[in-house]
Amino acid sequence: MTLGWLAAILVAPHLTLSPGWRMAALFCHLSCLVVGFGAVLTVDWFSLRWLLRREPLGTVLTAAHGAHPLIWLGLLGLVVSGAALGPDTSSGLVWVKLLAVLAVGVNGLFLGRVRDRLAEMDGVAPRAALLPGVAAASISQVGWWTATLVGFWNANR
Ligand code: HEM
Repeated sequence: MTLGWLAAILVAPHLTLSPGWRMAALFCHLSCLVVGFGAVLTVDWFSLRWLLRREPLGTVLTAAHGAHPLIWLGLLGLVVSGAALGPDTSSGLVWVKLLAVLAVGVNGLFLGRVRDRLAEMDGVAPRAALLPGVAAASISQVGWWTATLVGFWNANR
């Protein structure tokens, strides 16, 4: 995961796109944002409903399992199209965004483990088992929102 992230950052300065291709890459970037972050928000929404006892654990796990490929596909597309857009790696704010993206990726691997552990508990999870999941879901939200806000800020200031 870290190697892929690093490769995208190292390759990015060597890519120069024509205005037309840049627009296409930006469209891809935003489409992947919709797919990836949309899937994350859906799973987190179901998780919140479970915490409020409005959904059974099984529903959350089914949603998480189903959304899993969309989240990774979105994140991969964001990294590839983001590299094509040529981030300005001399900017501190861009590094905040890149580190937020790395955090989202590594944290996503951990969330997968948490989901598998909850699935093994067969629908009845003690409260203590929720803590890693809530912490990882919070890190994920902070990471995605940070990357979205910094990307938006950089593109529109
Ligand atoms: C969670 C992952 C990411 C999210 C949520 C995200 C979000 C965004 C957003 C919202 C924009 C603004 C688009 C606009 O307003 O027109 C943007 C632009 C951009 N993103 Fe990302 N991005 C992510 C990952 C990446 C990565 C990994 C890279 C680089 C390797 C990258 C490089 C860029 C570049 C270069 C721009 C254009 C900025 C400009 O025009 O100055 N992004 N991103």
